[in-house]
Amino acid sequence: MEITRVGVAGCGLMGSGIAEVAARAGCDVVVREIDSEALAAGRGRVEKSLERAVSRGKLDPAARDETLSRMTFTTSLDDLADRDLVIEAIVESLDAKNELFGYLDAVCPEETIFASNTSSLTVTDMAAATSRPDRFVGLHFFNPVPVMKLVEVVRTIVTSRETFDAARAFARRVGKVPVAARDNSGFVVNLLLVPYMLDAIRQFERGVATVEDIDTAMTLGCGYPMGPFTLCDFVGLDTLCQVAEIMYGEYREERYAPPPLLRRLVTMGRYGRKTGAGFYDWTPEGPVALKV
Ligand code: CAA
Ligand code: NAD
Repeated sequence: MEITRVGVAGCGLMGSGIAEVAARAGCDVVVREIDSEALAAGRGRVEKSLERAVSRGKLDPAARDETLSRMTFTTSLDDLADRDLVIEAIVESLDAKNELFGYLDAVCPEETIFASNTSSLTVTDMAAATSRPDRFVGLHFFNPVPVMKLVEVVRTIVTSRETFDAARAFARRVGKVPVAARDNSGFVVNLLLVPYMLDAIRQFERGVATVEDIDTAMTLGCGYPMGPFTLCDFVGLDTLCQVAEIMYGEYREERYAPPPLLRRLVTMGRYGRKTGAGFYDWTPEGPVALKV
């Protein structure tokens, strides 16, 4: 089955990137957000990312215009009813995701494939609540979506071979390299990456070094493109905290438990880059690290 009509639910950090790469690959894309304010912000993210590609000579202005002409921005869930594939990239909450898929299950034809971009929930927990568990996969993209080449394609014990193959072909079509992952919380990358990020926070809590020095140590000492605190702010501390809660709930292993400081930052509304402050204050003059 070839996928040409794509729906994306959520146009935050991830949904905007997923919608962009699908439209750049020639798909007809409908993106849904909860209200007009969030929709305008999401559209702005797509436009900014396309502008960046134009200014770097990676995309010509005509291709940018064509990409945008293939995208429809909406607040109506019913506008996703004629899609071949709907990819969910909303908040990391099983209740929110199940409510969304419950509605879509009723309005989309039975051929429509459902996919979740979840970081830490199991696809099974969402698929089992619909009437199409065989046509349900995980398509886990990485942030920033236009740049990161990987997609984890996640198969549950009942995902059909046709659905898995169509999802993997879609990942290739949008220019990504798919890896097959089993449906365990955290798939492959987050099983390894999330404990690393949480550990960095714990070491900072213990007073091992400052936020800047831990970041400098890991970038210059290991050649990582970002230090762990810059990465936490980039991912979003609200999302990271949810992911940690879910993985800790699944495995009951201390390495997945959200450190107290992470919870405090989230309570204070310091979600990272997206709110202007997290482990750093993201000021126009440059990042200023948290001191505690
Ligand atoms: N959107 C679109 N394009 C972007 C971008 C963005 N937000 N940020 C950077 N880019 C592009 C730039 O345009 C540039 O493209 P070209 O090479 O084609 O010119 C390229 O990326 C490099 O950008 P810069 O030179 O400005 O910056 P950089 O060299 O510092 O790279 C980075 C930026 C790619 C984000 C790099 O720092 C990096 O790889 N960081 C680590 C990201 C990472 O680990 N992501 C995974 C997060 S975990 C996750 O996603 C899973 C989960 O479930 C939580
Ligand atoms: P985000 O907070 O940037 O965006 C989530 C968006 O979903 C918000 O704009 C919100 O308004 C919208 N939303 C909420 N309910 C909705 C609904 N019912 N319909 C449509 N839109 C709705 O979050 P994000 O970082 O883009 O994460 C989205 C998903 O992708 C999460 O499941 C997260 O775990 C996963 N993910 C995140 C990253 C990352 O680095 N941030 C990487 C890979 C996967």
